Amino acid sequence: MLLLNGLLTGERTAASAAAARTAPAKQASCKPCHRDFTSVLPENHPAVKGSDFASCSSCHQPDFSGRAEKNAFSTRIHTAHLNKGNVACTSCHSWMPGKSFGLALVKGSWGAPTKDDMKLIRETFDSWAKSKYMDNIHAKGNIVCAGCHGKEVPLADSTVENQRCLECHGPMEKLAKETEPKEFPDRNPHKSHLGEVACTVCHKAHAASKVYCLECHKKFKMQIRGAGE
Ligand code: HEC
Ligand code: HEC
Ligand code: HEC
Ligand code: HEC
Ligand code: HEC
Ligand code: HEC
Ligand code: HEC
Repeated sequence: MLLLNGLLTGERTAASAAAARTAPAKQASCKPCHRDFTSVLPENHPAVKGSDFASCSSCHQPDFSGRAEKNAFSTRIHTAHLNKGNVACTSCHSWMPGKSFGLALVKGSWGAPTKDDMKLIRETFDSWAKSKYMDNIHAKGNIVCAGCHGKEVPLADSTVENQRCLECHGPMEKLAKETEPKEFPDRNPHKSHLGEVACTVCHKAHAASKVYCLECHKKFKMQIRGAGE
């Protein structure tokens, strides 16, 4: 099976690397690297039997519907394996370039990224896992890609509509109220003479955010998170 070979990209022990290379497809998801999960499960987590993904999916059912919700399980699985483990995506994911992208041994797909798409997706994952931008603020808040982008894995030129952001941060009036400055109430980034603007004019997800108002109003004092500092 093409997808289950070449499991590792990072520094793992020779023994587990060899185990991973020779692991039969059925075990490829977790067993080559985790004999059991006791040492890696979060504190106070219910006890888990077995040592493959089925041990998790009985309670943590993969979400193929792309809900605008927190997902602590998916967040931790990805940040742990990207930041510390540097584990290849295809250790857990099945991927047929241009056809489907799912989970090994699980039915369902999040879209059909090509090889070029996957390069960009990987880069974006790294940014989400450790950048100083808004994507990482969301990773820390347990929001995965699907939380913003919905059920299809995002590709080049994907964006996010205001309505999606407002599902978690809205309604607009509430947001505007929260950010009304005490001293100059009309210098509100969310209620101004610009009218309705795309959130992404100021809030970039995978690049430095910046306050658009300041392009014209050099003297206003306004700050934004995820600006890259
Ligand atoms: C190619 C090797 C490899 C595979 C395959 C693998 N893991 Fe891991 N896993 C690691 C490494 C490396 C770490 C980081 C170890 C550490 O934190 O001590 C890790 C950490 C974890 C953690 C700790 C998360 C945290 O928040 O710190 C969990 C839970 C976990 N793995 C579950 C899984 C599950 C479930 C699977 C199968 C779906 C899996 N792993 C597949 C190598 C792997
Ligand atoms: C018996 C049910 C059950 C099984 C099986 C199970 N979990 Fe969980 N897990 C939970 C519950 C309940 C929570 C807390 C609520 C939530 O976040 O979904 C949780 C939360 C988590 C979290 C998030 C913790 C946090 O808030 O940061 C991680 C990571 C996790 N589980 C990993 C795993 C892994 C890895 C497996 C498989 C090896 C697994 N779980 C199997 C019930 C289970
Ligand atoms: C250790 C196993 C593991 C590794 C390694 C892993 N994933 Fe996942 N991934 C999962 C699991 C489990 C889910 C399902 C989580 C859910 O739906 O709750 C998932 C879900 C996803 C999703 C759909 C949800 C979302 O966030 O949009 C995407 C996209 C995704 N992974 C991409 C990747 C990419 C790209 C890589 C490599 C950079 C990667 N994954 C590495 C286990 C893994
Ligand atoms: C906070 C919401 C949010 C999260 C979480 C998020 N994105 Fe995005 N993403 C956006 C927005 C908004 C854009 C539009 C470009 C911009 O403004 O930065 C975008 C654009 C993209 C693009 C197109 C970039 C380009 O160069 O054309 C890709 C690919 C992408 N996201 C992948 C991902 C992946 C993979 C994840 C998960 C690791 C993710 N995104 C998580 C909001 C998000
Ligand atoms: C699925 C829910 C969800 C979606 C969709 C979402 N966010 Fe968030 N957002 C969060 C969570 C959770 C946090 C981190 C916790 C917090 O600080 O509120 C966060 C944090 C933020 C922050 C920093 C908050 C602060 O207090 O400084 C900004 C700014 C932000 N989001 C803007 C956006 C924008 C713009 C979009 C659309 C491109 C978006 N979010 C989409 C849930 C979401
Ligand atoms: C003209 C630039 C601009 C646009 C457009 C914009 N924002 Fe903001 N946003 C800001 C600035 C500046 C702040 C910081 C305000 C503060 O700290 O008081 C901010 C803060 C936030 C926060 C954190 C709020 C808090 O309570 O601290 C959220 C969430 C947010 N924006 C979401 C959105 C969403 C969703 C949209 C689109 C509907 C949007 N923003 C459009 C500039 C903008
Ligand atoms: C494309 C340029 C431009 C952008 C971007 C822009 N403005 Fe303005 N703004 C103007 C002009 C022109 C005036 C009217 C002339 C003046 O009084 O400076 C004005 C006037 C104002 C005034 C009343 C006069 C003052 O200086 O107090 C406020 C308040 C204001 N803008 C807030 C904002 C806010 C908040 C944003 C971002 C959400 C924003 N503007 C973005 C051009 C801009």
